[in-house]
Amino acid sequence: MIIAAETHDSIRAVQWQGDHLRLLDQRLLPGEERWIDCRDAAQVTQAIRDLAVRGAPAIGIAAAWGVAMAAQQGAPLEPVLAMLRAARPTAVNLMWALDRMKKRIAAGADAGALLREAQAIQNEDLAANRRMGELGAALISTGSGVLTHCNTGSLATAGYGTALGVIRAGVAAGRIARVYAGETRPWQQGARLTMWELVRDGIPAQLIADSAAAHLMKSGAVQWVIVGADRIAANGDTANKIGTYQLAIAAKYHGVKFMVVAPSSTVDMATGSGEEIEIELRDPAELLSTGGRRTVVEGAQAWNPVFDVAPAELIDAIVTERGVIERPNSIAMQAMFGC
Ligand code: MRU
Repeated sequence: MIIAAETHDSIRAVQWQGDHLRLLDQRLLPGEERWIDCRDAAQVTQAIRDLAVRGAPAIGIAAAWGVAMAAQQGAPLEPVLAMLRAARPTAVNLMWALDRMKKRIAAGADAGALLREAQAIQNEDLAANRRMGELGAALISTGSGVLTHCNTGSLATAGYGTALGVIRAGVAAGRIARVYAGETRPWQQGARLTMWELVRDGIPAQLIADSAAAHLMKSGAVQWVIVGADRIAANGDTANKIGTYQLAIAAKYHGVKFMVVAPSSTVDMATGSGEEIEIELRDPAELLSTGGRRTVVEGAQAWNPVFDVAPAELIDAIVTERGVIERPNSIAMQAMFGC
């Protein structure tokens, strides 16, 4: 799992093994580093649905390998594409990767060509992350503090990360002096996964309760909120992990800048605005228990949307591998991503 030597990037959580897909089970971190071997597309679909693999780019990459594996096994590909597509609704990287595989299938690609396509999707994501790291870090003044949300690192991508890639690059360049990560209830991607990545990389960081974010901003300790995205609409509205919207509102109020970092595979120009983005609703049971232990009285109910939309007007910069859009709107998005 560990790619030696390279500072500030050591984890590869999605690994093709020649005839099956190996995934680092993100539900168990940081307590246990257990790998899951997915031996057919149904197992990949289940791993995506159950959050064993998660993060928008990573689920797109896993799905592409699922299609390639099905082709290698001689399985009919149309049902496999449909099954994987239905695994989760919000992150458009999933649909983007499947559309890319579908196009190759339609063009007559054989299993070998589909395996190469999945590998290309994975390689391109890593390259995009490195580029976004440079571009995003360049926006940050030396000595800044940053707050991030959810997990957008190597675990959520092919490697290095989106928002966490910018943080890695910003720390390496000496621009970022303080890193804060929100817990990200209820799955605790910030507490469990981002802190795990940062500690591994030797990047000093402090965990905060999600509810401490506005208080932190008021203290003056952070100059940027840096987050990833699951889908960016044609007007710059951005869906990301639940809690991102309230961070964007609090940032605006406190004069803290707000950066969204995502590869172009997260941009969905077919979706006009955030209003049209389907927000995944997950089992309320995820809110009623913590670590497998019931913490809420029996009989209680819960509402569990797992993404929200930060409107473009609250975003200072969208960073993709194609470039930076400051103060995003439909015109700037069209100029960079229009066909
Ligand atoms: O439910 P998750 O853990 O898949 O949600 C992940 C996020 O919201 C991330 O911020 C987003 O996918 C960007 S990951 C580079």
